[in-house]
Amino acid sequence: MKEIIFATKNKGKIKEIQAILGGDYIVKSMEEAGIDIDILEDGKTFEENAIKKAVEIMNFSNKIVLADDSGLEIDYLNGEPGVYSARYMGEDTPYEIKNNKILEMLKDVEEEKRGARFVSVIALAMPNNEPITTRGAVEGIIGYEIKGANGFGYDPIFYIPELKCTSAELSLEEKNKISHRGKALQQMKKILEKMV
Ligand code: IMP
Repeated sequence: MKEIIFATKNKGKIKEIQAILGGDYIVKSMEEAGIDIDILEDGKTFEENAIKKAVEIMNFSNKIVLADDSGLEIDYLNGEPGVYSARYMGEDTPYEIKNNKILEMLKDVEEEKRGARFVSVIALAMPNNEPITTRGAVEGIIGYEIKGANGFGYDPIFYIPELKCTSAELSLEEKNKISHRGKALQQMKKILEKMV
């Protein structure tokens, strides 16, 4: 069994990645691997942040490391909040407030200009190799109201026209099938099968 460290403190993400990568790999959180370092996510792109996290932890542990960075890009806001999604309007501001503020900013904007996407970039860092990234995205629009109680973050305002609901109205299983992170992980799985 090949061991991979996933650079996150979020246990939900570990479960998700273990489920997608399957039984050939054992995925450990930083805590399980005994690593406790904070990495400043100061990159301008999802790629920069994901690579920085993966490489720093690989250098520290000398193990195979995966890291991700994700966020919501809103066309009308020139791609914001983007890499600042977690910090947008303040890290501790509840998402109900952030989401209502975004709805307010887009109040008079017609549907064609409400385009948005969730983006996820996964970086792989291995000793003696250049880092590799994969990118997954899910396209949608910013809805007109908060809807749905599942998911987290910006899910209640992210409306997916093909599914006729917000991503907060999807079950976790349904969301994982179409999500930005799921897509990036599926691509990364193919790379791992070749490289690891
Ligand atoms: P992270 O890089 O995965 O920690 O995500 C950064 C931020 O992007 C989160 O704190 C959320 O604000 C936003 N985000 C990323 N993925 C999702 C999602 O699937 N639903 C809702 N918000 C998300």
